[in-house]
Amino acid sequence: MTRLDDATGDLARVLARLGGDHPQPAPDVLARLHEQFPRLHGLFSQLYGAHPDGFEHLAALLRIAADAAAERADDLVALDERRSADPEWFASERMLGGVCYVDRFAGDLAGIREAIPYFQELGLTYLHLMPLFPGPAGNNDGGYAVSDYRTVEPRLGTMDELRNLAAELRAAGISLVIDFIFNHTSNEHAWARKAVEGVPGFEDFYLIFPDRTLPDQYERTTREIFPDDHRGSFVQLPDGRWIWSTFYHFQWDLNYANPAVFTAMAGELLFLANVGVEVLRMDAVAFIWKQLGTPSESLPEAHLLLQAFNAVLRIAAPAVLFKSEAIVHPDEVLDYISPEECELSYNPLQMALTWEALATRDARLLQQALVRRHALPAGTAWVNYVRSHDDIGWTFADEDAAELGIEGYPHRRFLNDFYIGRFPGSFAAGMPFQENPDTGDARVAGTTASLAGIERGDEGGEDRVVLAHALAMATGGIPLLFLGDEVAQLNDYGFTDDEHRAGDSRWVHRPARPAAAYAARFDRDTVAGRVYRRIRRLIAVRAASPEFGGNALVDFTTSHPSVVSFQRPGADETRMLVLANVADHEVAIDALTLSGFAREARDAVADEQIDLARGVRLPAHGFRWLRVRAL
Ligand code: GLC
Ligand code: GLC
Repeated sequence: MTRLDDATGDLARVLARLGGDHPQPAPDVLARLHEQFPRLHGLFSQLYGAHPDGFEHLAALLRIAADAAAERADDLVALDERRSADPEWFASERMLGGVCYVDRFAGDLAGIREAIPYFQELGLTYLHLMPLFPGPAGNNDGGYAVSDYRTVEPRLGTMDELRNLAAELRAAGISLVIDFIFNHTSNEHAWARKAVEGVPGFEDFYLIFPDRTLPDQYERTTREIFPDDHRGSFVQLPDGRWIWSTFYHFQWDLNYANPAVFTAMAGELLFLANVGVEVLRMDAVAFIWKQLGTPSESLPEAHLLLQAFNAVLRIAAPAVLFKSEAIVHPDEVLDYISPEECELSYNPLQMALTWEALATRDARLLQQALVRRHALPAGTAWVNYVRSHDDIGWTFADEDAAELGIEGYPHRRFLNDFYIGRFPGSFAAGMPFQENPDTGDARVAGTTASLAGIERGDEGGEDRVVLAHALAMATGGIPLLFLGDEVAQLNDYGFTDDEHRAGDSRWVHRPARPAAAYAARFDRDTVAGRVYRRIRRLIAVRAASPEFGGNALVDFTTSHPSVVSFQRPGADETRMLVLANVADHEVAIDALTLSGFAREARDAVADEQIDLARGVRLPAHGFRWLRVRAL
């Protein structure tokens, strides 16, 4: 038993062990270890300083990191060097993400490989493959219940295929992104089985309680995430005990208060890094640390844990980035984003407020968020998306809404009703997800095209799909397309026939690859063809517009509540002026409003010269990307 001590002494002890019977770490690895050690040691001391074996766990962790670094393939070592020479590579205007389910989009990994030419046609530089690990048969939360992090689900392929695919994608200019589902494992993971059986060393891998005493106390302050599946945060084991289970009953939360859990998961993390994954989507980050009397979400220790994982990565696989999935209050979303924690983050606020603006035809909340909540620390970026595989939750800050005279609770109710199609005159065809009978809370499911009005035949539907993407591509960060949305894929209600999916309405927006729509993508007489052509145009213009690189966004104010407007600064005095109108009627921006710019401007999307002295017209649900010159 050895506790953590001071950093200098502990470093010497760690190095002595690494120098033992194993080959010494390579000089560059040693250099990175020296560089990261003080930080890692500090984090470990805060998390596990009181643990009698704290030092042993840290030493084991560094052994794992050193071994992973030694095993890292040559092409990945070369990638590490390229990335450290260009650490902000992901801020380029050429970055474009796509996300899909391996089986639903392409059958298996071989099918994904065959789709590479399509990914290139689209311009992807980043491909997120949804979870592809083995999980429980039947419902496994779309792969988010992982039974083994080192195996690919056999239906989809093998780990060697994934490794080769990562290399092939990289050669095609596409970074592979996969999930690191580290808040929980499935109940069938070897650790879970051993924990339940009480195998020494595994009893404390999860949070298991003999009776309801502590669970009841915790639940006084925790939130219910999947109330349709089970109420509260715990489920009962067959032997009568209770286990922490934030999401589905077969997803058991890991106990990070146990340093052995951290060390074990760091091993899984580095395994995936060495497969050639370039970005790890850090799933459900908010939930990883629990404490009685708190919501057990976004606690300070959650950040310490992520930073410690980040430090481990910097030692063994420095090219790899983290993307935070924190679907929480906007202040809390931001707390996860820094070069020392997660370099990338979903931008759930912009996503939700884009839909909010489309429903209300009022862009003020979105505008306020862009002005107030878009800025990020250097060396980080947003991932901007129109929708994901998950539900849409209305995660705006009530304080922000109140400033505009909007009350949070009824507004969320309105938005749910609107997108579920319960509001008279709504253009949207969505479904409720996890309606909570006690709180009245719910979230929304649906594909972009269905939520935007195409399914219901609303005449603004196609425009809204394009408008939403035009915003996600313009505000700054990596735009992320849910593949299928670019050909206006509609909801698929067939999931209700599948007993394992019927209870989870998110499947309505996770349909199989729409082969007919893709086949029609060059046919302008089809919805798919029109939407595809317009989105492709946006992608091409974006990639050729340096103003869209980085994250800098400068406010621009018009007098129209239905207009979102901002500038993206470019070289010299050029700016990309983005104007978007969520109303169902045309809006004219007058010349005075535009008088801070030179008269001659260029509409980058339409590729035509315009005279700002004549004002700018924005059609109903229309937008413009104008290259202007500030006076
Ligand atoms: C994340 C995933 C979601 C899943 C949950 C539990 O939020 O995006 O699909 O249900 O984590 O893993
Ligand atoms: C909750 C969680 C979020 C997750 C979602 C899945 O909103 O906060 O992390 O993605 O549930 O539906």
